[in-house]
Amino acid sequence: MATRSPCLSDRASVGSDVPTIFVLLGPPGAGKGTQAEIISKQLGLAHISSGELFRENIKNQTELGVLAKQFMDRGDLVPDDVTIAMVRARLAQPDCARGALLDGFPRTPAQAEALGKTLEEIGTAVKTVPLIQLDEAVLVERLSGRWVCRTSGHVYHEQFNPPKQAGICDVDGSELYQRDDDKRETVERRIRVYHEQTAPLVEYYRNKGVLVSINGDQPIDAVTRDLLAALGVGSS
Ligand code: AP5
Ligand code: MG
Repeated sequence: MATRSPCLSDRASVGSDVPTIFVLLGPPGAGKGTQAEIISKQLGLAHISSGELFRENIKNQTELGVLAKQFMDRGDLVPDDVTIAMVRARLAQPDCARGALLDGFPRTPAQAEALGKTLEEIGTAVKTVPLIQLDEAVLVERLSGRWVCRTSGHVYHEQFNPPKQAGICDVDGSELYQRDDDKRETVERRIRVYHEQTAPLVEYYRNKGVLVSINGDQPIDAVTRDLLAALGVGSS
């Protein structure tokens, strides 16, 4: 890839001389975005959500956005080559110099290999991969009640994590909306795609000795506490 990322050049990181890279793994609706938002702030790491990057491209009507939308609307994965290129470009941003928390990437063995190679170039590797686990019925319930902020993708749930004022983001006051791919049939397709294409990464990272299972069926703060412990950081 052409872009050289700060992860490849600036060796500053959380307590070491290489960037710290964590990967949040889990099915659609497991709470990856919710937790990544909280934890990335606590650890001072960039939060990279491949889904959010695609949605930004769709909003800005870029060529990538037009391509990605066709796949996302069906609940399918966007092809590996464009996804890998997009995430690598994101890693080139200065806020990634200390490291990043990856949310929704990698999602296929080819993406995991590409990430591994990128990190290998600087003598590092994915440090920890928390796998957030949940029953399928809970996933569907979570996604059908989800509301997302139009400006920055802040995530709410009408029952489990409501905004102070319905339809308005607590953080930046922007409008909340429901994602097109949160329709029941698309959610079911996304969960199937997760089992077929992403679940193999559980074994992949377990074999590398970096996988940690987390019970996602707990209140948000309990999941945060378990995640921080898994990442080797106590909650403050
Ligand atoms: P993406 O945006 O990544 O969607 P996803 O993986 O399907 O995950 P979600 O965002 O739906 O769920 P989440 O785990 O983040 O849960 P959240 O925190 O929001 O990807 C969308 C699409 O983009 C893909 O289908 C694909 O087409 C494409 N794409 C993205 N990455 C790709 C890649 N690498 N390769 C190829 N294609 C890619 O929480 C869900 C709800 O539950 C919220 O309402 C929240 O408030 C609530 N909640 C969270 N935690 C709790 C809790 N502990 N208790 C109660 N409620 C909770
Ligand atoms: Mg998400």
